[in-house]
Amino acid sequence: MHADWEDLKYLNGFGNHFESEDPRCPNALPKNQNTPQNCPYDLYAEQLSGTAFTAPRETNQRTWIYRILPAVLHEPFSPIKSGLLTNRWDLSEPNPNQMRWKPFSIPSTKDEKKDFLDGLATVCGAGDPCSRHGASISIYGCNSSMDNRAFCNADGDLLIVPQHGSLRITTELGRMLVKPQEICVIQQGIRFSVAIDEPSRGYVLEVFDDHFHLPNLGPIGANGLANPRDFEIPTAWYEDRDCDFTVVHKYQGSLFESKRKHSCFDVVAWHGNYAPYKYDLRKFVVVNSVSIDHLDPSIFTVLTCPSLKPGTAVADFVIFPPRWSVQEHTFRPPYYHRNCMSEFMGLITGKYEAKAEGFQAGGATLHSCMTPHGPDADCCEKAMTDELKPMRIAENSLAFMFESSLSFALTKWSMTTSAGIDHDYFKCWSSLKKHFTGPK
Ligand SMILES: [Fe+2]
Repeated sequence: MHADWEDLKYLNGFGNHFESEDPRCPNALPKNQNTPQNCPYDLYAEQLSGTAFTAPRETNQRTWIYRILPAVLHEPFSPIKSGLLTNRWDLSEPNPNQMRWKPFSIPSTKDEKKDFLDGLATVCGAGDPCSRHGASISIYGCNSSMDNRAFCNADGDLLIVPQHGSLRITTELGRMLVKPQEICVIQQGIRFSVAIDEPSRGYVLEVFDDHFHLPNLGPIGANGLANPRDFEIPTAWYEDRDCDFTVVHKYQGSLFESKRKHSCFDVVAWHGNYAPYKYDLRKFVVVNSVSIDHLDPSIFTVLTCPSLKPGTAVADFVIFPPRWSVQEHTFRPPYYHRNCMSEFMGLITGKYEAKAEGFQAGGATLHSCMTPHGPDADCCEKAMTDELKPMRIAENSLAFMFESSLSFALTKWSMTTSAGIDHDYFKCWSSLKKHFTGPK
């Protein structure tokens, strides 16, 4: 691992207004104004708006960037192949089945070179980036670093969940090392590049509607779940490097590339509240029932992208971390249910509590809108006979869920065998027994 990346310094606090200067250029931020006639060090000033200029103050997000050359300096965009990355949902038939995928493949070093961007493959999604409503879920599997190229998503924010291999992510606003059990969010329009040290795999949630928020805590109070101070924001870092550089731009679900002669990571200083961040999932403060009953998984929400319908997310990011389980006379695993929301689950490490076998790290499940699901037969039998003492659950394990109010369409790729689809998934429930004792 690169020692200089391990030693990176971050700013702390979700949604704060920050200012940051690369230490090589002290006082690079203009004093008392955003756009002086000449900026310190003769940098260009550029604003990156993450919300409408007129968005209410409490939700308004923008960052002022001071850079060597403005982002506009590039040749025209030209379309390139989007590979397996897509926002088109009309190319395959609807499929309401419970879905389970074996671990998605990671290309080996002997395979054809695939960087983070080449390795993106969309599993499912809904909605439309043109009307700015919807979400998509993709997997990445890569064996090489992005070389003199950056990615910029004009369609929405990306929440990246590394499952295998650390990501060294250079963004316009600085660098982040993101390891498995950490996540990062890179907002709409922020250019970034991903370097790796070994073949790597993970999950990506894209949302078109809004940025991610911390969930409201209601009666929980002012603290708990993901605490704002635990979010880490990169500090300004630049390179002044002339080279053949490509920016790949995702726009209306298609990829375009534009060439330039200078690295786009040339931001010497910035200030604002529109910046990427990372979060260590092991810092999540778990809140749960200490009396009876299995509570709804919304108690595990790390981040939420709200829809216009109150309390209803375009997508929630939910985790199932190691914790104590103490509920009395309670069926402790997740209850059997049908949900008007769609539930995509991934496993970062270990075994998932409701399905000890079959659901593997690097794989996934999808339980679509109103498709029944719940613990497998073995887990159910065990939960009905277990002695209910306080016990640690999900030890050494970390599962997560992208839960959405959208009804997801599966892509053709995700329904092919090469994606490792588990056609026997339904069988995990087929030995569920009748326990009914009949009328007395
Ligand atoms: Fe569920």
